[in-house]
Amino acid sequence: MFSKLKSLREYFRVFLADNRLLFAGIRQRRGAKAKEYLLRRNIHRLEKGLRNPECRIPFGQAYAGQTERDFETYRSQLPPAIADWGDHVLAEYRQRHANPALPVEAPADVAIPLDAPDYASLRAAFAQRTSCRHFIAPAPAGDAIAEILHDTRHIPTSCNREAYRVLIVETPEKRDWLLANSIGLTNFTGVEHCTVLAFVADLAAVNHPRDRHVPVMDCSFASLLFALAAQSRGLATCYLNWPIRPNTDRQSRAVLNLPATQKIVFCLLVGHQNPALSSGKSPKSGRICKV
Ligand SMILES: Cc1cc2nc3c(=O)[nH]c(=O)nc-3n(C[C@H](O)[C@H](O)[C@H](O)COP(=O)(O)O)c2cc1C
Repeated sequence: MFSKLKSLREYFRVFLADNRLLFAGIRQRRGAKAKEYLLRRNIHRLEKGLRNPECRIPFGQAYAGQTERDFETYRSQLPPAIADWGDHVLAEYRQRHANPALPVEAPADVAIPLDAPDYASLRAAFAQRTSCRHFIAPAPAGDAIAEILHDTRHIPTSCNREAYRVLIVETPEKRDWLLANSIGLTNFTGVEHCTVLAFVADLAAVNHPRDRHVPVMDCSFASLLFALAAQSRGLATCYLNWPIRPNTDRQSRAVLNLPATQKIVFCLLVGHQNPALSSGKSPKSGRICKV
């Protein structure tokens, strides 16, 4: 009975902490970061309309004016690539609405060449991926990790909002704190030789509770693409679970200087696999069914 009450209390603590974070995101709807997310969403919606071969002009009038005004206000605070994207999409939107007879065609710089990657190599890489729990020196340099993360930034994210951040945790005290507070580090060797990444979800991107899962999914896609790319550079990885623990989450925000809307979803260890030690190979069923 006592243990049932205890787990019920734990359930509510997690429930409250999780929802407090969601509300923090929704409350900050007028903040600069939330504006950036909304702008990205609306620019993306306009772009989708423009790229539609059956696009009917006019469209998007309910939000295009506000998007233009917000873009003007916040343009200087946007990442340069996003600001350029906004310039192009909004200019094309204006042009097409001024002259609805213009043909629908993607500008040359956004046309996508669909070169198929070598499937056999990809398949081999997928099959070889395993979690590494035995690392040897040297730990990969932060710059090398940043380069791979930059190369793998092309993940799909809901409305292109990129509601996630990847922290390359280089400061020794921060790294030590993360590892000390991770509960999944049993049976590892050589953790001191790996580089620690923290994948962080930003709930400020969620403008409706029904989309609360989106930032967490962004973290998943970003981390897995990174892990596969790292593997092709000879680096092994292992996820480290980061359960929802209200006190630890609060502390993590202080340690990593995270705003109230952001939380760690998991950590990823990156390093060189010790060739003398194996973590085992977990069989996969694939869980595929036709319905
Ligand atoms: C979200 C997530 C959290 C994980 N957390 C841990 C962890 O805390 N400690 C650990 O040793 N492995 C962790 N793993 C690795 C899994 O145990 C591993 O992926 C699984 O056993 C399958 O093995 P494989 O990755 O070698 O195929 C985690 C994996 C995921 C996706």
